[in-house]
Amino acid sequence: MSDNRPIGVFDSGIGGITVLKALRQRLPHEDLVYLGDTARLPYGTKSAETVTAYATQATRYLMRHDIKMAVIACNTAASVALDPLAAALAPLPVVGVVGPGAEAGVKASKSGRIGVLATEATVRGGAYVRAIHALDRDARVTQAPCGLFVTLAEEGWVTGDVAEAAARRYLAPLFKGRNVPDTLVLGCTHFPVLARVIGRVAGTMTSGGVKLVDSAATTARFVEKELAAKGLAAKRRGKGKTRFMATDSPERFARVGGIFFGETIAKKDVELVDIRPG
Ligand code: DGL
Repeated sequence: MSDNRPIGVFDSGIGGITVLKALRQRLPHEDLVYLGDTARLPYGTKSAETVTAYATQATRYLMRHDIKMAVIACNTAASVALDPLAAALAPLPVVGVVGPGAEAGVKASKSGRIGVLATEATVRGGAYVRAIHALDRDARVTQAPCGLFVTLAEEGWVTGDVAEAAARRYLAPLFKGRNVPDTLVLGCTHFPVLARVIGRVAGTMTSGGVKLVDSAATTARFVEKELAAKGLAAKRRGKGKTRFMATDSPERFARVGGIFFGETIAKKDVELVDIRPG
């Protein structure tokens, strides 16, 4: 069995392109259609109800593109809205990034002390703590809400003084307590572009060394397995297409999105869409 329909990938903004990139690498034959709800970003400071409502509208819009699976490449939406989204989109398979991110953290950690960097809503919802404990009951999980990282990433300020100062401020509490982590999970799809700064700053706070992991590669592996298990993998020889949609400012999406994608995104390849119902 095979299925050549596209996989839908959703994020509140351009951060999910880190997951899209991993999918592109792992599944070169698949068509991918990406939607960033840039008009309503950030989700990470909003209530679970608002995030659920926005994410439902966005993924319903993606369904109009006849997708065969939805990847919720936004930790905030996957943390607080995965079950309602799966119910709203059923029988479409829906994959979130929190389970794969937790798995990457548990695999990487030797001490079982894992720090999670995420948005305020993700930290508040506790989905990472639950997902890590489901894999390792004894893990000691600490969390830090790092909302400003989202703004820095969207601004393209991924290196330099401002990013360093923000990282020092956000990371300090994690490295002061008894449970100094040996692994940091980048629990927001915007954060991998700041990995160098985060890694460098974390390295100055402990002599033990810190590994950084994110959910992109693990999610791509999980999607590959799910496609195979459900008979949904594409059957084509050539490269799959990647299509981009944003709810605001295609020019900005293309310019900053290219940093996340690791290759140029042309403005003309980003479609401006209105996902509001009615
Ligand atoms: N990229 C989103 C995440 O993974 C959050 C960014 C936002 O606050 O909208 O959590």
